[in-house]
Amino acid sequence: MRKSFLSLAATLLSMAGLAQTHQLDINLKKAGAPIPSTLYGIFFEDINYAADGGLYAELVKNRSFEFPNDALQGWKAFGKVEVREDGPFERNPHYVRLSDPGHPHKWTGLDNEGFFGIGVKEGAAYRFSVWARVPDGGESQLRIELANTASMGENHYLCQETLPVAGKEWKKYQLIIRPDRTLDKSVLRIFLTGGRNTVDLEHVSLFPVDTWMGHENGLRKDLAQALYDLRPGVFRFPGGCIVEGTDLETRYNWKNSVGPVENRPLNENRWEYTFPHRFYPDYYQSYGLGFYEFFQLSEEIGAEPLPILSCGLACQFQNENPDAHCPVDELQPFIQDALDLIEFANGPVDSPWGKVRAEMGHPAPFNMKYIGIGNEQWDSLYPEHLEPFLKAIRAAHPEIRIVGSSGPDSEGKQFDYLWPEMKRLKADLVDEHFYRPYDWFLAQGARYDKYDRKGPKVFAGEYACHAKGKKWNHFYASLLEAAFMTGIERNADIVEMATYAPLFAHVEGWQWRPDLIWYDNLRSFRSVSWHVQQLYGQYRGSNCLKLTMNDANVTGAEGQDGLFASAVLDGNRIYVKVVNTTDKEQPISLNFTGLKKKATVKALGGTRLSACNCKLYKDNTLDEPELFKPAPFSFEGEGKRIDTTAPAYSFSIYVLEK
Ligand code: AHR
Repeated sequence: MRKSFLSLAATLLSMAGLAQTHQLDINLKKAGAPIPSTLYGIFFEDINYAADGGLYAELVKNRSFEFPNDALQGWKAFGKVEVREDGPFERNPHYVRLSDPGHPHKWTGLDNEGFFGIGVKEGAAYRFSVWARVPDGGESQLRIELANTASMGENHYLCQETLPVAGKEWKKYQLIIRPDRTLDKSVLRIFLTGGRNTVDLEHVSLFPVDTWMGHENGLRKDLAQALYDLRPGVFRFPGGCIVEGTDLETRYNWKNSVGPVENRPLNENRWEYTFPHRFYPDYYQSYGLGFYEFFQLSEEIGAEPLPILSCGLACQFQNENPDAHCPVDELQPFIQDALDLIEFANGPVDSPWGKVRAEMGHPAPFNMKYIGIGNEQWDSLYPEHLEPFLKAIRAAHPEIRIVGSSGPDSEGKQFDYLWPEMKRLKADLVDEHFYRPYDWFLAQGARYDKYDRKGPKVFAGEYACHAKGKKWNHFYASLLEAAFMTGIERNADIVEMATYAPLFAHVEGWQWRPDLIWYDNLRSFRSVSWHVQQLYGQYRGSNCLKLTMNDANVTGAEGQDGLFASAVLDGNRIYVKVVNTTDKEQPISLNFTGLKKKATVKALGGTRLSACNCKLYKDNTLDEPELFKPAPFSFEGEGKRIDTTAPAYSFSIYVLEK
């Protein structure tokens, strides 16, 4: 009766050309479910040159001369350069020998092209390092330059330094160079000089000195800062499909990603060839950003580390042949990898893997609490493979929460099969993936409202709005992510984590979009989706509050005029999130119930992301990094009911105090 009266009123108002005021009832009588600190997090995968050429600040490509098709890929050799393979690092055996070119007017040396060039800043310090020796004994000399080979100027170099090398033994040499200009595409140039005595070079490296937290094997500061600023509660690593491998040989092997960087073996990167229409024959994984750096960064940005490991199944998209996978009765080495990773992260310094961690500089445990086994797996193969992992991890580490998978789809045959299987196996969390179009996001506001509260919990482990025909970052897609996330927040009792994906993309090297953070060699920008994630992280709150419209959750359902909303409590603060997905401003009133008779709520102001029609399909760019960013708005009033508006195409956070 009440509902039909309301809908009649709405019809009359709209006939009169007036937008109906939507009353949002927010019950303050009691705080709802606690919001997990892990609710909003980040997903890292080395796709789109996210690691080498991206977050990992190494500027030299193929620094160990190990690229398998051509040991000198990324390098231009001149004069007398020979590739040899009996070097000092057994898992990266190649190195180069530079010898006298045979004529005083000729030169021997190497240029490195970096990742889409080497980006350097005027006056900044860069640490050049190399392992070298003079194989015949005695002394020799190198000249190290950063060069602009496209320059019309008198000379090419931006800086020049001399590096003496001496003795038959391999040693690490380093020097600091400071370019006199800013350039996004310089070249590292190494000349054999001095007496031109033969020199051997291995692991040629160049890092900015000013990395995130100043680590020598460090991360690009602007990109790590963009992660820190998200206030992520959980950090998933290293993927994604990369976990699985096109074949098991090339799966991400965490043990190869720890220890001295010089001896971390190269792995292929499936994103080199997965999309032949965006093919990158020079895309490999150096593992320079490996599991130690992942745990360290998790700690530094305040996120719970969530490693995902192979379950012994190679990528099922790429392998129909069952022989590609490890048989269940041969899984022990994979299971041991998982147990050893827990020891690496948490074990005492006198345990074998705890010792490796301590030797790398972190004797204290990383206090890892979660582990995921398998990525996008499906069919009975997956539960069969997962079960022995669960048994072994539970037996040795009952304190670790284990994440299973619901396959690659947000619904359908595999999803419907795997969720009950995850319940049967008592996985603690189930990873769901959804890269879906507008209409899916508009229809899924209530997705988690009816999930079984008995668990497992949900990890929305990869998601982004991918509009049909508009698979690029744009405001409207991000707005629908914000709308969908009201449902994550409302259901924080069952959703424990959610991570947008993918995280990073180099503008010249992407395979997949949209992505959260984009960059070239010197600049970066944060997408609108980044701002959506950041706002949820910043206004996460401590407890859910019940918010309804006409007694129903506000999920963009019929009659709710494209509105999505949720509310949380944070001490005496209340954050109400409202997403208006329509092109019309809508009056709303925030109506607080459950208050004592004389108690009131006071509006403090708000912050909002919004766009006009003409910018719906745009996003920030390298040239306009702040085209969109949240803007404060004033929002005033005190009482039990406060009237305000939700502008067209907006995501607003109304901040109030009780
Ligand atoms: O995020 C990109 C890819 O999407 C991930 O590697 C995979 O898990 C998913 O299919």
